[in-house]
Amino acid sequence: MIDKWITRINSGNLEIDIEREIFATSGEIIARTTMDINDEHARKICEKLRTLQMALFKTTRYVGVPYIKFIDIKRTIEAKKLGKEIDKLLICVIETRKKSKVIRKGREDLLDLLLHENQVDEKYGKRLSTKQLVDECKTLLFAGIETSALAISWSLMLLALHEDWQNQLRDEIREVVGDKEVDINVIAGLKKMKCVMNEVQRLYPSAPNVQRQAREDIKFDNLTIPNGTNMWIDVVAMHHDPSLWGENVNEFRPERFMDDVNGGCNQKLGYLPFGFGGRMCVGKNLSFMEHKIVLTLLLSRFRFKISPTYIHSPSIMLSLKPAYGLPLIVQSI
Ligand code: HEM
Repeated sequence: MIDKWITRINSGNLEIDIEREIFATSGEIIARTTMDINDEHARKICEKLRTLQMALFKTTRYVGVPYIKFIDIKRTIEAKKLGKEIDKLLICVIETRKKSKVIRKGREDLLDLLLHENQVDEKYGKRLSTKQLVDECKTLLFAGIETSALAISWSLMLLALHEDWQNQLRDEIREVVGDKEVDINVIAGLKKMKCVMNEVQRLYPSAPNVQRQAREDIKFDNLTIPNGTNMWIDVVAMHHDPSLWGENVNEFRPERFMDDVNGGCNQKLGYLPFGFGGRMCVGKNLSFMEHKIVLTLLLSRFRFKISPTYIHSPSIMLSLKPAYGLPLIVQSI
């Protein structure tokens, strides 16, 4: 991606749709780190997942509406076809791994762990059927790629708007990383960058809501939530609530996370970009690692400005996306 950008910039084309580019790169990173899927396969799976998401979640108005799949038949057929194509690609990845003779001991990835559950166990039989295995892979890719791509994209948008922070991060990268190889120990020292990432997830949480279902009647003071009720916890609303964060709630202020992992929020569960409890995001640390590495590589090579063609319209399409893409002016340093 970086080489491609440099070629484009050298040919005088400075405007880049960051969201699309980062999505493709994030797809390659997550597919490779979790399942060792090669870039070409990753690209195909990502494109299909993206189209599937657009087909299913262009509007969230219909999510959970009974019998909607029979009412919107065209959408259902399109989604089913894409779902099958993705299954086929993933089955190919799984079968290749099963047949592989490469010894993976000591460097197992998530696919190895899932495959382990797919083997026949004397006591329990097969804990994960092949269909479940494919579904788990799909969930992992769906949950991991877009969310981390959006986190990086919104970061670049906010850094393009706040040049002072862009420069502060560049100075930090120079100090902490310098000429060293970018590895996990080195990036742990990027404290300001971590604050920026947290603040970006507060203002533009990639996952804009978290769902739960009441498994029994729940009582809060005089309120009873009946068993079976589906609840959508509105993370965007909570992250923009002045009664939780104070009057400067809508301002980009990464420093609020400097000495407080909760960003100064006066409620312990008021900051929920990765969910909470037993179902909290399993990819949180991986996404922070990816975020730090990608920002380090990009900020040390390029300067970002908002493009005049950018239309600010964050929209909920399952995730919180820029509805008209994220064109930025990118210049080499
Ligand atoms: C900025 C990046 C990310 C954000 C904001 C994010 C956010 C979330 C949220 C809000 C949930 C629901 C948690 C809950 O219900 O309490 C979730 C679940 C999940 N995430 Fe992430 N996620 C990110 C990256 C990733 C990555 C990189 C992966 C994997 C490679 C991943 C895999 C998952 C999975 C598998 C679940 C379902 C967990 C379960 O239901 O037990 N996520 N994520």
